[in-house]
Amino acid sequence: MPVANRSDDQRPYDALRSSIAALAPWFHNIDLNGVATAPDHFLGNYPADKFARFAAIVPADLTGKSVLDIGCNAGFYSVEMKRRGAERVVGIDSDDRYLAQARLATDALGFTGVEFRNLSVYDVAALGETFDLVIFMGVLYHLRHPLLALDLIRAHVARDAMLFQTLQQGSPEIADVPEDHPFFEPGTYRQPAYFDAPGYPKMHFIERQFAGDWTNWWAPNAAGSQAMLRAAGFSVEAQADGDVYFCRVAPVPFGQHGPAAVYPAKGGTGS
Ligand SMILES: C[S@@+](CC[C@H](N)C(=O)[O-])C[C@H]1O[C@@H](n2cnc3c(N)ncnc32)[C@H](O)[C@@H]1O
Repeated sequence: MPVANRSDDQRPYDALRSSIAALAPWFHNIDLNGVATAPDHFLGNYPADKFARFAAIVPADLTGKSVLDIGCNAGFYSVEMKRRGAERVVGIDSDDRYLAQARLATDALGFTGVEFRNLSVYDVAALGETFDLVIFMGVLYHLRHPLLALDLIRAHVARDAMLFQTLQQGSPEIADVPEDHPFFEPGTYRQPAYFDAPGYPKMHFIERQFAGDWTNWWAPNAAGSQAMLRAAGFSVEAQADGDVYFCRVAPVPFGQHGPAAVYPAKGGTGS
């Protein structure tokens, strides 16, 4: 019996599989009309399974809204926001291969009104516009200057809401932090004990590598994430899955003393 040729209707899938393979490896497993981009992902069906655990804290209807997806990777969250009706989605990332993945994914799914650009979070001011929803998921701990990134987002692109996620380590407790910190425990020369409380806001500094990745620099505890968000001028409205926060823009604490973000000048001779 003759071996049947692959049918014509399989050819578009073959072409899509080759395009996916050409851009591998993928960090986002996205279902492109039946073809998965990373079916053997080490975290399982990622990030769809994670999204399912916090999707309820994101507005279900984004009709007419604009979204900025910072560190968009292959565009999983950009796609999900389009599915919720967002009119315009801009995804930025510092890695061209991920941006090519994101373009392939949105093209394959037929989404319009999505734009992907190579831009660092430190350069968001160059966008020259604000967005109804900023997504800043999975990027903070990769940065050497995490609070600066939050300050820049708050100053230049966040108009109303921000969906935020970070790697966290340490206690999930939230300690009651005093309004002001005395040098010593009252009546002693002892340092205040609360700095060592598990729920005191902390950022663990990772000098070497975390999970074999040298780009992981920081791991806040839950109190640290929330305190940093507040310090940058975001109020936390909801928390889900332990490390995901839905925030609104709020006044920047101590903002009356001047802008929070800094803009280091580049010297002419640096290498
Ligand atoms: C762990 S992935 C998170 C991807 C996606 N946001 C998510 O939550 O699934 C981190 C992403 O941030 C990007 N990234 C790292 N540093 C960045 C920077 N300075 N500006 C913009 N994107 C950055 C990486 O290229 C990568 O795509």
